Amino acid sequence: MRQEVRGVSLSGPYLGEREEELVLEVMRSGRLSLGPTIDRFEELLAERVGAPYAAAVSSGTAGLHLLCISAGIGSGDEVVTTPYSFAATANCFVYEGGVPVFADVDRRTLNIDPAAVEAAVTPRTKAIVAVDIYGYPCELDALQRIADRHGLGLIQDSCEALGAEYRGAPLGSHGPACVFAFYPNKQITTGEGGLVVTDDEGAAGLMRALRNQGRAPGDTWLQPRLSLGVSPDFSSGTCHSTAPLSASKAYTLSCSVATYSTLWVTPLMLKDDTYKGCASTLPSTG
Ligand SMILES: Cc1ncc(COP(=O)(O)O)c(C=O)c1O
Repeated sequence: MRQEVRGVSLSGPYLGEREEELVLEVMRSGRLSLGPTIDRFEELLAERVGAPYAAAVSSGTAGLHLLCISAGIGSGDEVVTTPYSFAATANCFVYEGGVPVFADVDRRTLNIDPAAVEAAVTPRTKAIVAVDIYGYPCELDALQRIADRHGLGLIQDSCEALGAEYRGAPLGSHGPACVFAFYPNKQITTGEGGLVVTDDEGAAGLMRALRNQGRAPGDTWLQPRLSLGVSPDFSSGTCHSTAPLSASKAYTLSCSVATYSTLWVTPLMLKDDTYKGCASTLPSTG
């Protein structure tokens, strides 16, 4: 007898009339790259996750890559990370010549085990890249202590974890710079897209410059990495992450504010007049 097999989708974006309206608004505004829609998106998300600064980028991978550049990861530097994640978690520093050193995960959480991280640190270690796998927060406090003790950068890959909390506060509000991603299988979607959040104004300015080919915010001129305070080569190898947000991102970024697929974000939308009415388009959880 043939059994019927039905697929169960892990996640899917909810796109309704309000999203269509917002896409049209952006198209008619004439601002198809960066501009006020992106500014507002950054402001809303930063507020929601409790981070002082946010910079929207073209993907989660791009955000992680920019953080690796600003952490000064270069050729031969070791970076301790998890063996259990999406490839981007290690690729982001391999792009800069960093060498992955995999520390095992805690079998209860599937997140990197701080004891294994400590054991993996050598004099060549430059940074730790930790992941909140499947949206479950990693052991941030223990990892930060290790990073502080050895003078390492700590980069948090929260690409799967928008809306999660660690010790009662949203991820993004704890200090280390972290990255959220907005691919269509994520909590919210911009089609493709990502967001770096940080508590450091200088780091936020650097992200905004690097995402846009090295242009200082508000400036139209390209600047070499050196003048931005990062490694001197301004190589073409970073163009995937420094590309300006494309027109389609601008459409979808505006759209995405109304595309939250979970209810946690409802108050954010209700608070903002620009997106008034979005809540009524939220999907039923039933
Ligand atoms: C843990 C993790 N890191 C990084 C990424 C990369 O995000 P993006 O696909 O937006 O580049 C993803 C996306 O699936 C992810 O799940």
